[in-house]
Amino acid sequence: MRNVDDIEDRRLSGKMESRSTAPSTTGLPDRTSTATLTRRSLLAGGVAAGIVSALPGGAAGPARAAGRRVPFGAAIQSELMNGGPAYRQLFVEHCDLVMPMNALKFNLMRPTRDIWDFEPADKVVDFALSNGKTSRGTCHVWWGATPGWVEAIESPSEAERVLVEHIERVGDRYKGKLLGWDVVNEVVANDPIYENRSLRDTYWLRTLGPRHIPIAFKAAANADPTAELALNEYDLEYKGPHYDERRTIVLSIVRQLQDANVKIDAVGMQGHLYADKVIDVDAIDRFHRDLDALGVKLLVTELDVIDWKSAPDPQAQDKTAAALVTRFLDALFAHKPPELVIAWGLTDRYSWINDVMPRPDGAESRPLPFDRDLRPKPWLDVIRKRLAVA
Ligand code: XIL
Repeated sequence: MRNVDDIEDRRLSGKMESRSTAPSTTGLPDRTSTATLTRRSLLAGGVAAGIVSALPGGAAGPARAAGRRVPFGAAIQSELMNGGPAYRQLFVEHCDLVMPMNALKFNLMRPTRDIWDFEPADKVVDFALSNGKTSRGTCHVWWGATPGWVEAIESPSEAERVLVEHIERVGDRYKGKLLGWDVVNEVVANDPIYENRSLRDTYWLRTLGPRHIPIAFKAAANADPTAELALNEYDLEYKGPHYDERRTIVLSIVRQLQDANVKIDAVGMQGHLYADKVIDVDAIDRFHRDLDALGVKLLVTELDVIDWKSAPDPQAQDKTAAALVTRFLDALFAHKPPELVIAWGLTDRYSWINDVMPRPDGAESRPLPFDRDLRPKPWLDVIRKRLAVA
């Protein structure tokens, strides 16, 4: 396997080279200096390293009373906050943390440059805090949530100004209310080997280059110095060179940020578990140890099960889901407990998988710990038992 430095230099600086025609206002090096880029120069100008902020151990969900356990949380679509009380009650009863699934995303919060729509996110965050839960934010930078008005900005300096202003204002508004933020989400190339690139081709990469990553982390740290700042990523869970490469690139980004004294506290593994892929227990364990050695925490941020290729048999699907969640959590716990485990919803009735990866046979997907009628499924038991650490 290639070593990390090699990948950084070849891939990240390669990307910088491809940006070398950008106007000098980008602050990017020109072609001559690109050739001698080092990690430090890539990310130069970082803020002082932040003290790694601890997650309050005090997520005071009822389930914590019995002993120490890893806090369990779930994301909720703010439009469902007005739904039935039984649905909201699930979050009250089973979660230590409740977070907005979409309402803090850039395009929803800023549909136009002048509209800052905080209300949907406030609704969820207030619900969480008033019920004694914690909350967290996702996400400042995501290719899937860049508004059209931003993508129309061609000037790199203007794009940087908009990005920093957005992160600072939103970060400041929720200061003290959120444990932390996914500062950048899904910045690694989907298939780095096949695409021969380390970072995903996004508006932010095209306009600002790789430095949009430290820019975002610095702005988030400025806005809320005690928030736990995370890089969030998918497909870090499986076996194979494609996934090894994705894990390697994540570690490389973390090291580059640290080398430039840019505060990064955590890596979020989304944990969208495909029933048809093999979870790589050893690789996850190594990844966890590598992050730990760097002083960076590991979170599970979007846990659910994608069973679109499994036989359409609810009992078998639920058994598979419980086995997958068990295998994944066992891999994470092998080194030490993760900081937090967050499910991407609670009931099969409301899951993004129904929209984005519906089963071709029309049968029900069963991604979450409660079924469509809010009845608990076996993977809830796995969570209950596996998150207890003492
Ligand atoms: C999804 C939400 O679940 C949907 O409701 C929304 O329409 C689109 O985004 N990876 C991520 C999440 O990082 O933000 C995505 O959430 C799911 C995939």
